[in-house]
Amino acid sequence: MKQNNEFEDPVIDTLEKEKQDETTDTNVLPILPLKGTIVYPYLVVPLMIQDADQARLVDDALMRGSRIGLFLQKDAEKENPGPDDLYDVGCSGSILKMLRFPDGTVRFLIQGLERIRVKRFTESERFLMAEVEVLPEIIGSKVKAEALQRSIASAIKTLVGLAPYLNEEFHVSAINQDTPSKLTDFVASNLNIPIQRKQQLLAEPDLLKRMNRLYSALNKELEVLELSQKIQAKAATELGKSQRDYILREQLKAIKKELGDGDDSSDVDEFEEKIKQSHMPESVETVARKELDRLSHMNPSSAEYTVSRTYLDWLVSLPWSNATEDKLDLRKAKKILDEDHYNLVKVKDRILEYLAVRKLKADVKGPILCFVGPPGVGKTSLGKSIARAMGREFSRVSLGGMRDEAEIRGHRRTYIGAMPGRIIQSLKKCGTHNPVIMLDEIDKLGSDFRGDPASALLEVLDPEQNDSFSDHYLEVPFDLSRVMFITTANWMEPIPAVLRDRMEVIRIPGYTDLEKLAISERHLMPKQLENHGLNSTHLTIEESAIKTLIDSYTREAGLRNLEREIASLVRKVARRVATGYKQKITISAKDVPKLLGPQKYSREAVSRHARVGIVPGLAYTSVGGEMLFVEATSMRGKRALTLTGQLGDVMKESAQAAMSFVRSNAPSFNIDPEIFEELEVHIHVPAGATPKDGPSAGITMMVALASLFTGRAVKPCLAMTGEITLRGNLLPIGGLKEKLLAAYRAGIDTVLLPEENRKDTTELPREIKKSIKLKFFSDCLTAVDYALEKKPKSKNSKPTGKRTACRKTSPSKRTSKKRA
Ligand SMILES: Nc1ncnc2c1ncn2[C@@H]1O[C@H](COP(=O)(O)OP(=O)(O)OP(=O)(O)O)[C@@H](O)[C@H]1O
Ligand SMILES: [Mg+2]
Repeated sequence: MKQNNEFEDPVIDTLEKEKQDETTDTNVLPILPLKGTIVYPYLVVPLMIQDADQARLVDDALMRGSRIGLFLQKDAEKENPGPDDLYDVGCSGSILKMLRFPDGTVRFLIQGLERIRVKRFTESERFLMAEVEVLPEIIGSKVKAEALQRSIASAIKTLVGLAPYLNEEFHVSAINQDTPSKLTDFVASNLNIPIQRKQQLLAEPDLLKRMNRLYSALNKELEVLELSQKIQAKAATELGKSQRDYILREQLKAIKKELGDGDDSSDVDEFEEKIKQSHMPESVETVARKELDRLSHMNPSSAEYTVSRTYLDWLVSLPWSNATEDKLDLRKAKKILDEDHYNLVKVKDRILEYLAVRKLKADVKGPILCFVGPPGVGKTSLGKSIARAMGREFSRVSLGGMRDEAEIRGHRRTYIGAMPGRIIQSLKKCGTHNPVIMLDEIDKLGSDFRGDPASALLEVLDPEQNDSFSDHYLEVPFDLSRVMFITTANWMEPIPAVLRDRMEVIRIPGYTDLEKLAISERHLMPKQLENHGLNSTHLTIEESAIKTLIDSYTREAGLRNLEREIASLVRKVARRVATGYKQKITISAKDVPKLLGPQKYSREAVSRHARVGIVPGLAYTSVGGEMLFVEATSMRGKRALTLTGQLGDVMKESAQAAMSFVRSNAPSFNIDPEIFEELEVHIHVPAGATPKDGPSAGITMMVALASLFTGRAVKPCLAMTGEITLRGNLLPIGGLKEKLLAAYRAGIDTVLLPEENRKDTTELPREIKKSIKLKFFSDCLTAVDYALEKKPKSKNSKPTGKRTACRKTSPSKRTSKKRA
C-alpha cells in the first residue's frame, strides 16, 4: 500500500461514506498493511493498492460500510505480510472515495479515525482480520499542552521558511487545528522524519509525551535544515569568488594581449612543456605538477607566485636525465692528463683505473677522491684536467671559510630568497648529472651556530647514501651517485675523521727542484707565454735562469710562486715587444737579478759549521714541509726549564720528556749529574711569532740538550725528526715526504729518522734519495750519539770551518702553524 499524492481530485467512482460515530471498545476489522506511510486520526490520506486481495478488502469494506484497520508493516519490502510483520498499534479508518483503474490498480481516500491496538488476529481466508481495541488518549495538564502547542506552532513557522517541501498552506492548516492532539497528528503526518519515529508518535497514547517527542523532532529537523542552508550558502559564495576571479583573469589576459604584454598562462604552459622534457623521476614529477597546479591558481603579481615559480624553475632545470658520455679511450685520456700535468703518476693511474672499470661496467659509482698537499702542487688544476680527459663537465665549489650548513644543503623554501645549496647549484650549472665536482679546500670548513657544513657533506660524500641526496630547498631527492667528487686539502688534520673516512686520499707532497725545472719548461713557460700573447720566437728563458728562480727566488713545495716569477719575467719581455723591440730575447741566470731585483732567499740559515746547542729539525705545516730550529742554552740559576717560541702543550711536554731523559741517562752521555743542580736551561724555537705544536721535534730537543750538556757540537747539515718516549724509544712521524722535500730544499745532506719510517721512503723521488742520506734509529741514545760530534768542542775554539755539502738554506718566513 503506497501513498499516492496525485490522488487529489477523484473523478470516476465516488462513494460517500459517513463517518461512523458510534465506536465499540472491541471490534473485528479487516486489516490493511501499510508500506512507508501512516494514517493518523482525523486526517484524510490518499492511498493506492495493486494487490488483488487487498483490493477485494477495500471493496468488501466499502460494500459493508465498515471500517478497516491500517497498520504499518515492520519491513516495507515484505510481500503478503502476516500478523507478526505488523506493528501492533495502528489507526482505524473509513474509506471516503475510491477509483478503480483498468490495470487493476485501486486508488482511494481514507479518513483516519482512532488509534487502535490489535488484541488478536482472527481466522480469515483472503485478508487479515483482527480483533482490535481503541487506545484512549491520556490528556494530562491542559496548560502544558497549550504551551507545547505554541512552541510547536512557532517551530513550524520557522520550518516553513527553510524546508522546501513545506509551504505556507501547511502553516495555515497547522495553526487552524483546533486541539493539540489534532495539531500533533497533522504535523507528524507531514513532517519529513523516519517512518519508525512516525509510528512511535502514533503508538503514544499520552498526549504530552507525544507533543514533546514531536517538538524535539521538529527542532532536530530545523537544525539540519539550517546547517545545510549554511553549507549551500558557503559553496555558492566560493563558487562565486572563483568564477569572479576567473572572469577577471580572463579580462586581464585580454587587456594584456591588447597591450602586447606577455601572457601569464604561457608560464603554466611553458612549465608543463618543461616538466615533460626534463624526464624527471615520477615522484619528482608528481611534486612538480602539484606545484604547477598551485601556481596556476595564484595571482601572478603576488610574492607567493614568484616563490612558486622560482621553485618550479629549479625543478625543471636540473639535469635529471642529462649526462655527458664518458670518453672511455684510455690512451687518449692518458694523453690529455699528461699534457696538462707533469708526473703525478699515482693520481693519473687512479683516474685511468676508474675509466677502465667504467668501460667494463656502465653503472659504476663515481669515486670520491681527496687530493692532499701543499699549496700550488696542482690539486685544483688537476681536477679540471680530469674532467677534460673524461669528457665531463667541471664545477668547483670552494669550501674555504664556509660556516653555514645551508650553503651545502640549501635553505628551506619558507625563507625569503631561499636557494638550493652549492651542490645542486653546481649541477644546474653543469647541466649534466655526471660532472666532476671539486670541493676545494675541505680542510678550511668552519662551523658555528648556523650549523656544521661538514656534517652536511657526510651525506654528499657517502657513496652508499648519496643516490638520494636531499636538498632542503628542493625537498625531493637527487641522485648524486654518478657525480665524481674530488676534494682538496692542504693537510689532513683539520678534516673531521668521519669525513676523511669516506674519501680515498691521494697525497701530492710537493716537487723537487728537478721536477720543478721540468714542469717549468713543459707547462709553466708555454702557458705564460700564451697568456701574454708571446711565443718562443720572442723569448727563451735558459735553464740556468729557471734554476736561479727555483733556488733564490722561491722556497715552496708547489709551483705558485715560481709561476708568478716566470710570469713577471715574461711580462717584462712583453713590455719590450709591445714597444717595438723586434729581436728574440734570451734570459739567463745573470739577467734574473736585473729583472726581478735581488734574490729573496739567502743561503746562510743552516750553518755550515758544527755548533753546540742549535739543531735543525723538520716540521710539517699546511704549506708543506719546513725547517725548524731548536736552540738550547744554559745559565747559572735555580734548577729550571724555560720554553719559549709559542710552543703548544704537546711540544712543551716533549721538551720536558727530553730533559728528563737526558738527566736520567747522564752517565751514558758522560754528563756530571751535579751540573743539573746549579743550571737553568732555556729552550727556544724560532720563529718566535709562529705557534708550533706536535710531538715530532722530540728528538731535535733531546739532541739540543745533550749537545748543550756534553759540549759536543751537532754535526753540520744534519736535520732530524722523531717523537721520543721517556724510555728513550724513537717513534715514527707523519708528513715524511714533505719534510724530506723541505730538507732537500734547505740543502741538508743527512736526515736522522725513526726506524719505523723506513717503509715510507720507498716512493721518494730518486733525486731526494740520491742527495740526502737517510739514517734510521729506533732508540734515542744511539740517535743522539750519532747526531753529535765525537769530541766536545773546546770553549774558545773557533768554528772548524769544515766544508759541508749544504746546498742552500734560509730562515723560515712562513707564518702558518707548524707541526714539528
Ligand atoms: N704537475 C704539474 N704539472 C703542470 N703544472 C702544474 C703541476 N702542478 C702544479 N701545476 C701548476 O701550478 C699552478 C698551481 O696549481 P693549483 O692552483 O692547482 O694548486 P693547488 O694545489 O690547488 O693549490 P692550493 O692548495 O693553494 O689551492 C697551476 O697553474 C698548475 O697548472
Ligand atoms: Mg687549489
